[in-house]
Amino acid sequence: MTLSAATNAQTFDVEALRAAFPALAQKVNGQPLVYLDNAATTHKPQSVIDAVSHFYQRDNSNVHRGAHALSDRATVAFEEARKKVVGLINAASTTEIIWTRGTTEAINLVANSYGKSVLKAGDRVLVSAMEHHSNIVPWQLVAQSCGAEVVPIPVSSDGELDMSAYQQLLDERVKIVAVGHVSNALGTVNPIAEIIALAHQAGAKILIDGAQGVPHFAVDVQALDCDFYAFSGHKMYGPTGTGALYGKASLLETMPPYHGGGEMIKTVSFDGTTFNELPFKFEAGTPNIGGVIGLGAAVDFLQSIDRSALAAHEAALMHYAHDKAANFEGMQRVGRAQNIAGAFSFLLEGAHPADIGMLLDQQGIAVRTGDHCAQPIMKQFGIPGTARASFALYNNVDDVDRLFAGLEKAKTFLL
Ligand code: ALA
Repeated sequence: MTLSAATNAQTFDVEALRAAFPALAQKVNGQPLVYLDNAATTHKPQSVIDAVSHFYQRDNSNVHRGAHALSDRATVAFEEARKKVVGLINAASTTEIIWTRGTTEAINLVANSYGKSVLKAGDRVLVSAMEHHSNIVPWQLVAQSCGAEVVPIPVSSDGELDMSAYQQLLDERVKIVAVGHVSNALGTVNPIAEIIALAHQAGAKILIDGAQGVPHFAVDVQALDCDFYAFSGHKMYGPTGTGALYGKASLLETMPPYHGGGEMIKTVSFDGTTFNELPFKFEAGTPNIGGVIGLGAAVDFLQSIDRSALAAHEAALMHYAHDKAANFEGMQRVGRAQNIAGAFSFLLEGAHPADIGMLLDQQGIAVRTGDHCAQPIMKQFGIPGTARASFALYNNVDDVDRLFAGLEKAKTFLL
């Protein structure tokens, strides 16, 4: 696929979109910034920055509590953001959207609330071998406390989930499956619809870590029929410290609270406390109000874009990068799945990833290096980590060309 074939300029104007992100228009180390660290966090469009700023300049107040106009305005904007997230992922209702600090907290919530209440000695949680630590460790912590086991679903040397091994692992011991939509380390797009259907056939519940999914694809949780879908705001053009857990209301209703405190209760007494209705049962304490309102603006921003044109644009950039990589002497691509998105991970023969990152930074090119919080898959591949360029909707062909020119230059220092 050529870039021009994939990017329909009428529906996806990358230069106009780029102009909405003030942070991109800067020089770093004397060079125009090339930002390719979007899997770590994306930049924010002006509309998101303005929404957060507007909240603190005018509406700053606590939500669901005050008897005054500012609190009313804050509450309305805060709950409007929840409705926007319902629309973004096609949840059935606002009761199914729990605000969290991000994907990590959302997964910890499910592990500690749902996981702890259903897992018994001998039970199993399946996760893929390419998961981010945040979709492994919360399950390990809970499994250890109840004698259950966390079992990895094997991944091939190309970075594909082994679907036949998955089916074999799905026996009556498996109570929960937790799999990433898209691997942050390898870029693999997992066949989540099939993974979800198989988990349900086996009687297990399933959580999808969508941290790297929502920024790239339109997600429909009802069509997918997943039980839980977790994602972060800051990886989809919203503020840091925001995110959401989608859960089927029928499941969330049965789950005990995760954190205790204000807002999550109905009545408190020393004889016994009763809990608030959904979604507030899971939202103890003052939330990140400004951040959530900013996340609502990020949803508006994403919803204003043709999502299939966005996905095609990013896919074209990814193919362009892989084509260049195939002809780049000494480059080893890490993650060669058929269906990839977001992350382009690589190594240069004879060079440590950290040195590649530093030499690129000197040229104004931002990538991430290291194990990408996915040590098990790095260990399986026998590598300490990779250099990773990760794409967002505002990246363009020039960014990829600059990356490869930067790598050519880095090679002259390293090899
Ligand atoms: N999980 C984020 C990344 O992949 C931080 O960089």
